[in-house]
Formats: sequence, C-alpha cells, structure tokens
Amino acid sequence: MREYTPDEDRLWQRKLRAQFPIITGHPELAYLDSAATAQKPQAVLDAVQTYLTTTNANAGRGTYPWANKTTELVERARRRVKEFLGDPDAEHSSVHFTSGTTEGLRTVARDWLVPQLADGDEILVPFSDHRANLEPWQEARRLLAARGVDVHLRALPYQETSGDYDHRALAEAVGPRTRFVAATHVHHVYGGDMNVHRLRAAVGPRVPICLDAAQSVGHLPVDVGDPALDVDFVVFSGHKAMALPGTGAVWARNTRGPVLAPAGWAGTPNTVGVVSLLAALDWLDAAGVDRVARHAVRLATRLTDRLRLLDVYEILGCGASLAAGSPLAEGQRRQGIVTFRHRDIPSDDLGFILFSHGFMVRADSLCQAGADEKDGVVRVSLHVHNTEEEIDRLLAVLESLA
Ligand SMILES: Cc1ncc(COP(=O)(O)O)c(C=O)c1O
Repeated sequence: MREYTPDEDRLWQRKLRAQFPIITGHPELAYLDSAATAQKPQAVLDAVQTYLTTTNANAGRGTYPWANKTTELVERARRRVKEFLGDPDAEHSSVHFTSGTTEGLRTVARDWLVPQLADGDEILVPFSDHRANLEPWQEARRLLAARGVDVHLRALPYQETSGDYDHRALAEAVGPRTRFVAATHVHHVYGGDMNVHRLRAAVGPRVPICLDAAQSVGHLPVDVGDPALDVDFVVFSGHKAMALPGTGAVWARNTRGPVLAPAGWAGTPNTVGVVSLLAALDWLDAAGVDRVARHAVRLATRLTDRLRLLDVYEILGCGASLAAGSPLAEGQRRQGIVTFRHRDIPSDDLGFILFSHGFMVRADSLCQAGADEKDGVVRVSLHVHNTEEEIDRLLAVLESLA
C-alpha cells in the first residue's frame, strides 16, 4: 500500500467522516464503540432508501421486475462478499447470509460440523474469546452427547506473553482425532490480531479452520486468497462492517469436507440487510480498508502510549503483556481496540463518567467467555470517523481521573 503524507491522511479522513450523518449530527459526542456496531455512511442509508422505495420485493420468488432485481441484488451481494474477502473466482466457495457472527458460527457448528463428528473426535476451541465463538461448539457437543456420541472440546492454547494463540502448543495439540479448529481473527477485548496467519502452518493441511472475523471484516483487510490465511470459514457480522443490524455472512471455502449447506428451508432472506451489506462493502473498498485500519491503529497507539503513563489504568491485552523482545511490535498487533480498567473506579461508573463528557464507550465484561460481572472493563473501539482530537479529549478526561 502506498504511503500518504499526514496532510493527505487528514484530508482523506475528514472527507470520510463527513459521510456519517449520525456523527456530524452530534458534534458534542464521540462514538467510540465501533466494535459493538459500526455507524453507517450516507451511501448505505441511500442504498436502503433507494431499494425500499424502488425495488422492494421477495428474493428468489416471483417473475416481475422488482422480484428479479431483488434476486439479482442478493446474488450480487454474494459475489461482492467473495471479492471483498479476496476470493473473486474461487470455484467451490459459497456465501451464506445470516443475522450476524453468532448465527453464522452456529450454522457452521450445527449444519456442517455435527453431521461429521464421531465418538472420540476432538475439536479445538477458544475458551477466552467471545462467547459467540464458544457456545456453538459446546452446543454441538451437547447435541452429539444426547445421541450417544462423545466429542471432546479442547482449549486452543494462548500465549501468556502476547495474548495471541500459542502456535507451537497448538501444533502439539493437534492429533489424529482433531477434526476442527475454531479461532478468532481480532480479539474483541484485547484488541490484538491473533496472528491467524500462522494457524495453518501450526494446524497442518488436513484440519478445517473456522475464523470468527467479527472484529476484522470491515475494520482491516481479510484476504482468504493469501495462502497463509488458508482458513475454511470466515464468519462475520454485517452490522459491524457498516451494514444494517441483523446482517452477516459465512464464507465457506468448501474444499475440506462437504459443501456447507444450511439445513432446512431458509425462508425469506433479509433482503434490505443484504442490500445494505453490498453498499457497505462498496463503500469500504472505495475508502480503502487497509487505510481505514491504519487510521484506527494510529489512534489506538496514540491512546495507549499516553494511557500507559498513568499508573491507575491497566491496559488489557497486547499493550500490557507483550513480552520484551517479541518480534511483534505493539503497533503491528494492536488493531483499533483499547480495553482498560481504572484501579479505583468501577468500570460501569467510569462508563457513566465518560458519557457525561460525551464519550460513548463499552463498559461491562464484553461477552468474553468465562468472564463475569466483576471483570468489568472499559473498551474504546475506533473507526475511520474518529479523530486525534477525540482521543486527546478522552485522554484529558482520563488524566483528570488519575
Ligand atoms: C469477536 C466477536 N465474535 C462474535 C461476536 C458476535 O457478533 P453478533 O452479535 O453480531 O452475532 C462479536 C460481537 O461483539 C465479537 O466481537
């Protein structure tokens, strides 16, 4: 990717920020919760309005022009998801629309994995990531247990030093009965890229890998055409990638094991959501996802660099625990998510205090598997509409609380 001067970047960012009506309409507020759901640019709102006022019909049913156009839009969105993930011409891959990552992971678990597992098989799953990427595999295990099939869930090993997966321990954990690995691309609490480009080498060529890409698609480039990212499923939420709520997709490579075929009659698809996803991916491509990611990382670095100087704050994840001498620099690993807690102020109180200054952050236990209420944290998650000035204002408030 070409380098831009700071002035070019500032101009680019200002132009993009101006395209979010909810942001420009509330200059007194700063939205710092894009990991929960992303705001929508005008192009997405326009696509939804245009579709509903000119074309709205059911997809795959009917022969009149609105119905045909709707079917065509859904198919175009399917192709668009493939292109967006770096897989424009793959012969075998497929895209299935869902309501989000949670439903997508459940679809892979229930409709693809369960029918293939036998007594004594093992699957490796993340026990410290989002619960959406643990519960579907636990449910699969329970479903099979009810049929007398005993499948073991083993923990995907983590590195204590850097917080990403321990690829060496992973290679050792994969055995002849390992049938599946579920992993996460970017951790929703720790904010780090989990180094998934090393997963295939660790897991070996045989075992399918499913990637929870809820915090990566729409935030940073995800390229399944990269041989190092030889994963079998990419599951994401459209609403975190600037499309409407209730949208998401599963991309399936379909080369290890059977083709993903969601069970049963799917009913009417969320056509308006799919249309919004098509527009959102177009918008993100035009903006340049790699440039968007670099902007978010720059802001996250600005925040962590100064927050780290304040003893009362503990920054979670790679910022705090990256081992000295690690070949991975902080700036490379951390994406646009910074999670922290204050030594004396409970996180929900800190959330209220920050909102009284106009900052919308997430303040709770962030749906992390195994976490409970007392594990409350504050998460700042950044996107292209956020500015250095917002970060500096936030830091001024956080510094005043130190
Ligand atoms: C890493 C991760 N996985 C899964 C999910 C669940 O996404 P959704 O609620 O859109 O199904 C989230 C949502 O925050 C997430 O951050």
